[in-house]
Amino acid sequence: MDLDAYVRALPKAELHLHIEGSLEPEMMFELARRNGVALPWDSVEATRAAYAFSDLQSFLDLYYAGAAALIHERDFFDLAMAYFARARADGVVHAELFFDPQTHTARGIAFETVLDGLERACGEAQVRWGISSRLILCFLRHLSEEDGFATLQQALPHLARIHGVGLDSSEKGHPPSKFARLFARCRELGLHIVAHAGEEGPPAYIVEALDLLGVERIDHGVRAAEDPALMARLAREQVALTVCPLSNVKLCVFQRLEQHSLKQLLDAGLKVTINSDDPAYFGGYIAQNYVDTARALGLSRAELKRIARNSLEASFVPEALRQPWF
Ligand code: HPA
Ligand code: ZN
Repeated sequence: MDLDAYVRALPKAELHLHIEGSLEPEMMFELARRNGVALPWDSVEATRAAYAFSDLQSFLDLYYAGAAALIHERDFFDLAMAYFARARADGVVHAELFFDPQTHTARGIAFETVLDGLERACGEAQVRWGISSRLILCFLRHLSEEDGFATLQQALPHLARIHGVGLDSSEKGHPPSKFARLFARCRELGLHIVAHAGEEGPPAYIVEALDLLGVERIDHGVRAAEDPALMARLAREQVALTVCPLSNVKLCVFQRLEQHSLKQLLDAGLKVTINSDDPAYFGGYIAQNYVDTARALGLSRAELKRIARNSLEASFVPEALRQPWF
């Protein structure tokens, strides 16, 4: 069996996927036309040509611009269904989707419009393809903690439909400590906790995410490789890292995939997973991330199997509810 077929056949969970980052230019233009929204680009080709990023911020500027095409409940539904169709083809049996409500509520879209559309797609993906899923609300860290509290307030009537909270957007200069009180409140509410840390930010942000936010998984975490004491801790505590290799190269965290720290993290015994982050912007969905990383770093099939297994074990599905593949 060739590598691509092997990877697709592995039952796996996707644990780091921004649903707004799965908006392909074709759908962006279709939604913009349908909704009468102006985009900063003239064509699908010009949009793709603009996806040459120098760092996280240069990506985020385009990502927030593209999200402006999403207006109605049906748009969020269509977006998530398109993602699930791709995930299914890649052998994803379970997906935990990040969504950024502040990106939409700041444009006058109701919190419920976003949540209703995404949740309807999650239900449909379960019925149509047997894919289970969870929704994780991400707070935008370039905004204030107060803004985060206002978003949590909007989420309160819907907590049965939201399984966890995360922290994303511009990392440098916005350490986890800025959100310690907000995440303490989320923990009291019984929400699962994750945060982006150690993508562009220093290893110290990973330590803050663990100690001040109480995260159960670290999103990215690839700069942990710079701190041996932190590496030892992550291995000891078996904190899962949701690594996104193609994203890291596109955003210049590593210049080439061959230089990625993933193999070093894996060899040190950390609970590494592979995910796609914002696949419409970074050139590949989850299976592509597995295959390209395996080729660049020389990962064996046993290692790929271990990584897929890690993703199932690190999911937020309670043991009692797990399907046979877990
Ligand atoms: N990092 C931080 N924020 C994000 C990302 C990311 O990779 N993708 C979407 N929002
Ligand atoms: Zn991310």
